[in-house]
Amino acid sequence: MNNTILRQNLKNFFSNLFEKKSVDDVIETAKKSELRKTLGAFDLIILGIGAVVGTGIFTIVGSAIVGGPEGAGAGPAIILSMVLAAIASIFSALCYSEIAAMIPIAGSAYTYTYVTMGEFMAWVVGWILMLEYAIGNITIASAWSGYFAQFLKGFKHVLPDFVTHFPIWLRNDYRSISVMCDRFGFDIHDKVPFLFGKIPFALNLPAIFIVVLLTLILIKGVKESTRFAGIMVAINLFIISTFILVGSQYVQPENWTPFMPNGFSGVVMGAFLIFFAYIGFDAISTTAEETKNPQKDIPIGILGTLAICTALYIGVALVLTGMVPYKLIDIQAPIAHAMHFVGKDWFAGFISAGAIAGLTSVLLVYQLGTVRILYAMSRDKFLPRSLRVVNRKTRIPNMLTWICGLIVIIGSLFMDLNISAELCNFGTFTSFIVICIIVLILRKTDPDRKRPFKVPFVPLFPILGIMFCAGLIVYSLKTLKTSSIIFPFWIIIGIIIYFIYGYPAHRDKNRKK
Ligand code: ALA
Repeated sequence: MNNTILRQNLKNFFSNLFEKKSVDDVIETAKKSELRKTLGAFDLIILGIGAVVGTGIFTIVGSAIVGGPEGAGAGPAIILSMVLAAIASIFSALCYSEIAAMIPIAGSAYTYTYVTMGEFMAWVVGWILMLEYAIGNITIASAWSGYFAQFLKGFKHVLPDFVTHFPIWLRNDYRSISVMCDRFGFDIHDKVPFLFGKIPFALNLPAIFIVVLLTLILIKGVKESTRFAGIMVAINLFIISTFILVGSQYVQPENWTPFMPNGFSGVVMGAFLIFFAYIGFDAISTTAEETKNPQKDIPIGILGTLAICTALYIGVALVLTGMVPYKLIDIQAPIAHAMHFVGKDWFAGFISAGAIAGLTSVLLVYQLGTVRILYAMSRDKFLPRSLRVVNRKTRIPNMLTWICGLIVIIGSLFMDLNISAELCNFGTFTSFIVICIIVLILRKTDPDRKRPFKVPFVPLFPILGIMFCAGLIVYSLKTLKTSSIIFPFWIIIGIIIYFIYGYPAHRDKNRKK
């Protein structure tokens, strides 16, 4: 008898883990959404470019060309790395377009997983998406701080010294400062104050400032946020295009040889690093519930973003590697440095302004994405109810928006930029793989549903998407150390939280709907 009850309980438990939502229910929820539908295709492309063009092209491209301690770079063949990273992204972009146009809901890959693989996998995917969005944003906030400090230095003749050179412990996390001290042989006690002589104190003030500012904009409303992102994108695009135009006059074709100094492995390493520059277009799918005509606009938004960004990146890469011999390219601020290299110092300051605008828009769209995914998880009762309370006037989940800001602020106090960028890549590759799998599943389980946009050559394209992303993960696991340990650890913590909180909360009948 006892055995029978135990077996029954186990059976229930497993069927709960794989309990799926129906696609019809999800579409119904989206129709009744409390979020306001204000976005069109143009807004989505702005949001897309806003989410994509940032740290990758302004900072990481330098390491992708030159290489670093963990591998040799691509050299001028960075354009091949960019094409590889774009190919890895395009399959997932097509898959995102098919699903988001078919199921236009805020939760992105989290919700799509819920309808195809059940609640347990959905939770895991939602948790992994937080690596891409929230942890990714810690990277961007730290990079923002670096560019901001550099920008202020340009005003050294106008502004007081404490503004243009404010102390390192007020614009970095402690870990980054100690790495820098080790590298250059400085004494950490000269760089950082120690409370009571024992506890080191460091605070990334610019990161805190920008996150608070963006949170204030986000709670004003999604349309207001897009408008702000639009201004940032316009500044950013103007500056990048000017760099391509002005820089092309200083290109010396002999700098493009040797084209592939580190062979194919350099190109692949470059592709892994520069992949960071492409991620973000998927954030468009998180705003599907706020899009006026998602069936048509989401595919245009996603694919348009990817096409524009790939063209821009290849232009920047050609000019950059043509202007500066690849070994001399700077890895911290490669584009600004290229302008110094050809004697255009004033233009370098101009580039920093573009970088700040680019990073600000990435931060904004990623914060928007984090909030929308957690909102969907809370609506499914996996997270506390208070997180999905929306403001009546703006229709924004205010409390959740502030909490997401706080997460990035706390992260920026402790996390190193490189580790958070690598974790963000792991999270993104995984979500891209999941999205390709979901297309394959839904084509089998729900073949007759109306698909306003269809991925061509199924199953070939989703399978290629899975292979590209999985290949880059396997390659990176071999070279990256810390983040390849944190990544599985992150997933285990997520699973523990699901069993302790999410699973029982979702079934608590006494909770208000
Ligand atoms: N693609 C975004 C960036 O480069 C994440 O900052």
